[in-house]
Amino acid sequence: MNKLTEESRAQKVALVTGATGFVGSHLVQGLVKDGWQTHIICRCDSNIPTFVEFDDVIKHFHDGSTDSMINCLSDAKPDVVFHLASLFLSQHEAKDIDNLIQSNILFGTQLLDAMRVNSIHNFINTGTSWQHYNNEDYNPVCLYAATKQAFDALLEYYLQACDFKAITLKLFDTYESNDPRPKLFYLLNKSAKTGQPLDMSKGEQLIDLVHIDDVVEAFIIASQRLLDNKVTKNESYAISSNNPMPLRELVELYAKITEQTIKVNWGARDYRYREVMKTWTKGNEIDCWTPKISLVDGMRKIFVNIKT
Ligand SMILES: NC(=O)c1ccc[n+]([C@@H]2O[C@H](COP(=O)([O-])OP(=O)(O)OC[C@H]3O[C@@H](n4cnc5c(N)ncnc54)[C@H](OP(=O)(O)O)[C@@H]3O)[C@@H](O)[C@H]2O)c1
Repeated sequence: MNKLTEESRAQKVALVTGATGFVGSHLVQGLVKDGWQTHIICRCDSNIPTFVEFDDVIKHFHDGSTDSMINCLSDAKPDVVFHLASLFLSQHEAKDIDNLIQSNILFGTQLLDAMRVNSIHNFINTGTSWQHYNNEDYNPVCLYAATKQAFDALLEYYLQACDFKAITLKLFDTYESNDPRPKLFYLLNKSAKTGQPLDMSKGEQLIDLVHIDDVVEAFIIASQRLLDNKVTKNESYAISSNNPMPLRELVELYAKITEQTIKVNWGARDYRYREVMKTWTKGNEIDCWTPKISLVDGMRKIFVNIKT
């Protein structure tokens, strides 16, 4: 065996679904930096991110069929599958049903079965704190969260019958310093720039925000648990900041740290149907992981970004 082959054998191999999304694209960058040979499964019309790390990534295109998924897994032969692909809808309409089932149940089940066929056993799944409305053991905030739970039930079959080892990471809200998504900080910055006030609810709902770098680290730590054979069957962890804050306080803190004047019309909007007023606090913490970037530090990073 020549040196190159030995080295490539020693290299850990990751397969990531949802790699073109917000969390997945950061995870791919983290895995590449961490030395993994990284494969992704995308759709023919997926927009592949332009981060330089994606140049080294091996892309597999899934045509929607189970056979195509089996071929993707057979080509990649990953040590760990990181499953992040999902369709998120906070509320659904009747027309969304097919897409929700296709993205959140069918795609994932094809992936699990392709792992079975190719004797690949290490699986990281991505859940959501929204499976726990009102801090209950199971009460889905919306149909999206219910599809996550349904997928957990399907995963259980593969754990019991096919000797899979799995870790489910349940995520809360995520953010980054230069967040392009039209989420809270983006809207606050926009409003500060234009002077246009933002209409919001009364702002009493708790928000649990975790910086994307911490989320990526949680995935990498979870993968190491699998590779070290520390997982017997299925483990589930909450990737929480442990510091949820009412929206109103969050906005005030943000305005202070980023030295912006942000005008908000509190109470101008109703709370959303099944608004998450209190966050889920009953999840287990994963060993060796704690968020390193506090909310204040994360906000300072945003401040540096908007100043430059
Ligand atoms: N972001 C958060 O704050 C948060 C909170 C809780 C849980 N989560 C979970 O974390 C994971 C990643 O979330 P995210 O915010 O990064 O999602 P995102 O930005 O919306 O990206 C979704 C990803 O899933 C892929 N996808 C969707 N449907 C697919 C299908 N039918 N076949 C193949 N790929 C499909 C998309 O690919 P295309 O590019 O082809 O569309 C994209 O790569 C998800 O499982 C989500 O439920 C996220």
